[in-house]
Amino acid sequence: MEKILEFKGITKTFPGVKALDDINLDLYKGEVHVILGENGAGKSTLMKILAGAYTPDLGEVILDGNKKMERYSPILSEEAGIRMIYQELNLIPELSIQDNIFLGHELKKGVFLDRKKMYKHTKQLLQSLNIDENPRKLVKDLSIAYQQMIEIVRALSSDAKVLVFDEPTSSLTSVEIKELFEMIRKLKKLGVGMFYISHRLEEVFEIGDRVTIMRDGVCVRTENVENITMNEIVEGIAGRKIENLYPHVRKPCGKKLLEISNLTGKRFKNINIEVHAGEIVGLSGLVGAGRSEIARAVFGIDDYADGEVFVDGNKLPKNSTAKAVDSGLCLLPENRKEEGLALSMSVEKNMTIAALNNLLVNNRLLRRETLDYVEKLSIATPTIDRLVNFLSGGTQQKVVVAKWLMTKSKVFIFDEPTRGIDVGAKTDIYELMDMLLEQGAAIIMISSDLPEVLGMSDRIYVICQGEIAGEFEADKVDQNTILQYAFGQQKKEETN
Ligand SMILES: Nc1ncnc2c1ncn2[C@@H]1O[C@H](COP(=O)(O)OP(=O)(O)OP(=O)(O)O)[C@@H](O)[C@H]1O
Ligand SMILES: [Mg+2]
Repeated sequence: MEKILEFKGITKTFPGVKALDDINLDLYKGEVHVILGENGAGKSTLMKILAGAYTPDLGEVILDGNKKMERYSPILSEEAGIRMIYQELNLIPELSIQDNIFLGHELKKGVFLDRKKMYKHTKQLLQSLNIDENPRKLVKDLSIAYQQMIEIVRALSSDAKVLVFDEPTSSLTSVEIKELFEMIRKLKKLGVGMFYISHRLEEVFEIGDRVTIMRDGVCVRTENVENITMNEIVEGIAGRKIENLYPHVRKPCGKKLLEISNLTGKRFKNINIEVHAGEIVGLSGLVGAGRSEIARAVFGIDDYADGEVFVDGNKLPKNSTAKAVDSGLCLLPENRKEEGLALSMSVEKNMTIAALNNLLVNNRLLRRETLDYVEKLSIATPTIDRLVNFLSGGTQQKVVVAKWLMTKSKVFIFDEPTRGIDVGAKTDIYELMDMLLEQGAAIIMISSDLPEVLGMSDRIYVICQGEIAGEFEADKVDQNTILQYAFGQQKKEETN
């Protein structure tokens, strides 16, 4: 097989962090090379060098077997046929789908933009991925999942030789993932080489040809996929044995802490959900089913037309997150960059800001607690004074989780709590959830990760097009049944 790319002895240091340490790695034509590793291991940094965003301190990148990259710049990388699909979305929200896709390589008729042609091209590209959207729709009106798909479409709109997917599926659900994989298989046949970064380990076996595990800026193992097992992968990433991925212990639960009664809003209808102390209730469903919208309404971010919300027996007023927090409710939002974090503030500030709002606290104690959580969740930061902006994607997510854990709330709504989080930290977060339950809390977990919903919930509600399509005891239901309800192939009356 033909080698199209090689990293040779790549080393990169940031203040206080050796992000990459003598990386040697290659990529063949038509190959999917999966890169795994804990949060902060250096995966994105390596790919950003390839994209020309960073220059390595040492080492080189060789293209097509003999062409050394002389300089690192986004333009040179793009000219070499290297395309990135980043973990964090990179679209311009105020522009339409088609304008985003053709940004930087607009089609022109004379000196004018050829909008008609761009519309047609975009429509075709979208259709080839089964995305039924109007190319003129503004990106800000799309769900995160669709925005992610648009990024992929954009990367494909021009000739690509090497594609890098940096956690492309972290906000997609099973159907969309299937479509993405189909597209990847097509690209393989066309000879495109792909690096594929993911924290969803089952994907390795579905799409990967080779796999490399990174830890602390070093490649610890590269293997053909058929020569490695799931257990070896988990152990390689976490650096320890993990006996039980889903440590949740199901116990009889206590009093009702959250009641959502007949809630009806713009994108959901007649939602009735109860959550008790000591219980995790999973909300499953397709992306766009309305789960996050329900959470936002309950927490007081969005308005709703009808219905009531009670926390520990007290009715919550509409539209007041402050009152929601006061009454002991908290929401960990799915879109951490926009809603959960202040990027230009330190790890400590971010983690303590919510706790400061509703408690009379002692700063020294709070700092100690911050350090405690940094350790408990293995948050990869040199100090708690580091600006959150400089942390890896998954590490930022851990900071959001820690922030809400520190508020000592009674009812937690976690919206995709482990998205982008490495397997070791996932189990850490699950263990923290169980700890919260021990202390008498109640949890709603919105998750698109089916094994996670099944493994961690006591009860599961499946949401389909803004309505509850089914309610299940988690230990009496399987993935397929949940999917059927999520797709609306089952009627409400048939639920158990
Ligand atoms: N621009 C930067 N300035 C300072 N430190 C950085 C910068 N970019 C990355 N780092 C640090 O380099 C290390 C590697 O980060 P990187 O983003 O490559 O991790 P990752 O493997 O992609 O993690 P994740 O799975 O969370 O996405 C981390 O410790 C991170 O904090
Ligand atoms: Mg990353």
